[in-house]
Amino acid sequence: MSAPSTTTAPAPSDLAFIRFVSVENMMKLVHSIGVETMLKDLSRYIEDDFKRWEQFDKTPRVASHSEEGVIELMPTSDGEDYGFKYVNGHPKNMREGLQTVTAFGLLARVDTGYPELLTEMTLLTALRTAATSAMVASHLAPKGATTMAMIGNGAQSEFQAMAMWAVNGVSTLRLYDIDSAATDKAVRNLSSQGFKLVACATPEEAIEGAQIITTCTADKQYATILSDNMVGAGVHINAIGGDCPGKTELHKDILARSDVFVEYPPQTRIEGEIQQMPDDFPVTEMWQVITGTTPGRTNDRQITLFDGVGFAIEDFSALRYVRDQLRDIPYFEKLDIIADPDDPRDLFGMLQRAK
Ligand SMILES: NC(=O)c1ccc[n+]([C@@H]2O[C@H](COP(=O)([O-])OP(=O)(O)OC[C@H]3O[C@@H](n4cnc5c(N)ncnc54)[C@H](O)[C@@H]3O)[C@@H](O)[C@H]2O)c1
Repeated sequence: MSAPSTTTAPAPSDLAFIRFVSVENMMKLVHSIGVETMLKDLSRYIEDDFKRWEQFDKTPRVASHSEEGVIELMPTSDGEDYGFKYVNGHPKNMREGLQTVTAFGLLARVDTGYPELLTEMTLLTALRTAATSAMVASHLAPKGATTMAMIGNGAQSEFQAMAMWAVNGVSTLRLYDIDSAATDKAVRNLSSQGFKLVACATPEEAIEGAQIITTCTADKQYATILSDNMVGAGVHINAIGGDCPGKTELHKDILARSDVFVEYPPQTRIEGEIQQMPDDFPVTEMWQVITGTTPGRTNDRQITLFDGVGFAIEDFSALRYVRDQLRDIPYFEKLDIIADPDDPRDLFGMLQRAK
């Protein structure tokens, strides 16, 4: 048996460490900032990045489909930072006591390629999705909208409600889920937030008097959560649950009657509600509305439809936001994830010295 080595492993350099935000630390971060403030901040960060849309590398996300769900990678870069998110979508998970959507993500420096932040993104995805919906609604929803129908009362729903309240002043929620236990849960969670909450027995009842309709259900099929005769003039539809090939929420006649707004058309044509329409079905890109190059809502009777599938730039904005917050709020651990030998060519020597 050989004697234990007396050589000690070299201490990792500062560059070897990246900031890691666990779920526990993300929850502390959210509470220290405040949910409403964070949703408003995220909505501003996302809007700022939509304003500089043309600076970003863009590609439809890379999806690996199975019978039961999808696992996706969502990369982008603005030339200074590079970010990606790993995310899954498994509608059957909920019945097995698991999350439908889980995620984590990473931000790296483009000049060295060294990662600088690794973070949980299950909570952050719910927050950024809600902040995106609210930011889009601030451009498209009827002015002074106060009532939202929330169809699908699962994991995303309370975040959607909170963001619509924080950013747009929505104060009445009409809730419907195929499973009334989900509605009971959402009512319980939101009861201390100052909303007027109405639990509804049917989707038709939920949309009565609503100026904004959010569909946020999970089902891996062409579902019809809203049919054409349910949607009246002038509403804004925030459709976020249809985000995969073969997974939609709206009857296509609604699309034909609406002005449809999207994040990144090449991805939305694969994954969004508009997968039901011909390839040349007209859509407006949200970044053009935000920069003022294309009008958003133009009249009171128009139905505006945000066919939101979730795009990499929204995750990049969220990663950028978390990185900026960590400068003042130390809710992270240092993770020794980059092998960074003193002599960059002596990787093997570093390994030997660690024996
Ligand atoms: N666009 C985006 O950026 C984005 C981001 C995150 C999640 N999503 C999608 O949003 C959806 C919801 O996600 P989640 O995490 O809240 O899922 P979840 O499984 O926690 O909740 C989904 C809810 O929908 C309900 N539901 C299913 N069919 C219904 C129907 N016909 N009518 C009414 N309710 C119905 C279920 O009972 C459940 O309560 C998923 O499809 C997910 O892929 C989109």
